[in-house]
Amino acid sequence: MSDIGPASPFFTGREDLLSELENYFNPQSSITQSYNGKIFVLYGMGGVGKTQTALKFIQTLQQRFTKCYLIVANSEESIKASFYDIAIKNGFSKSSGWEAGLKWIAKLEEEWIILYDNADDPNIDLGKFLPQANHGNMIITSRNSTLTQLSVRSKELKVMTPDEGAQLLLKHAVKSHQPNSEERLMAVHIAAKLHNFALALVHAVPIDDAITTTEY
Ligand SMILES: Nc1ncnc2c1ncn2[C@@H]1O[C@H](COP(=O)(O)OP(=O)(O)O)[C@@H](O)[C@H]1O
Ligand SMILES: [Mg+2]
Repeated sequence: MSDIGPASPFFTGREDLLSELENYFNPQSSITQSYNGKIFVLYGMGGVGKTQTALKFIQTLQQRFTKCYLIVANSEESIKASFYDIAIKNGFSKSSGWEAGLKWIAKLEEEWIILYDNADDPNIDLGKFLPQANHGNMIITSRNSTLTQLSVRSKELKVMTPDEGAQLLLKHAVKSHQPNSEERLMAVHIAAKLHNFALALVHAVPIDDAITTTEY
């Protein structure tokens, strides 16, 4: 439960944010670090695409990071379970506990990156789960904007642009062929109705059905 998976094969857009992350986490960049490494908080509504964008960034820049870990930050239990998993994977005994994973990373003099994903619960003190080291890279995704206090850099992820929305919709809704111009127009229209909201776009019905439905 600490392995980072790939982003969706239908991942679309978000170029600006991806390059902002790339600049921020560039080891050569002169951006000030917080007392414990580089932390980027990505916040915004549930379903807007925070997790996917973070995964895409880490996937694209895998070469830059020597170790990539996922901390499932929904609850204290899941955070501890993720660090425990890291401890076990790195040779600690079962009796060591989750703290061993956290301390192990703090001592690791490498370009590691941790994704604290879905840190939505405002009652969790995430600070105590950040490795106490003056280096390292962390992305925190959350619905909760107050977590920006932990970071030097943060960004609110908003809904997709109309163009991104239509593209994403087409990838899900027209799979059998290259979309034609009628389908493209329809996609812009439907995506707008769905407020270019990623979670809604990926669950939209096939567009050929939508076109047929609206004809009657
Ligand atoms: N840029 C994107 N490209 C393709 N699919 C996306 C994109 N952003 C989000 N999605 C899809 O939308 C849904 C919600 O995205 P997710 O990243 O889990 O949102 P959040 O973490 O903000 O709650 C997922 O099914 C995801 O695959
Ligand atoms: Mg998420």
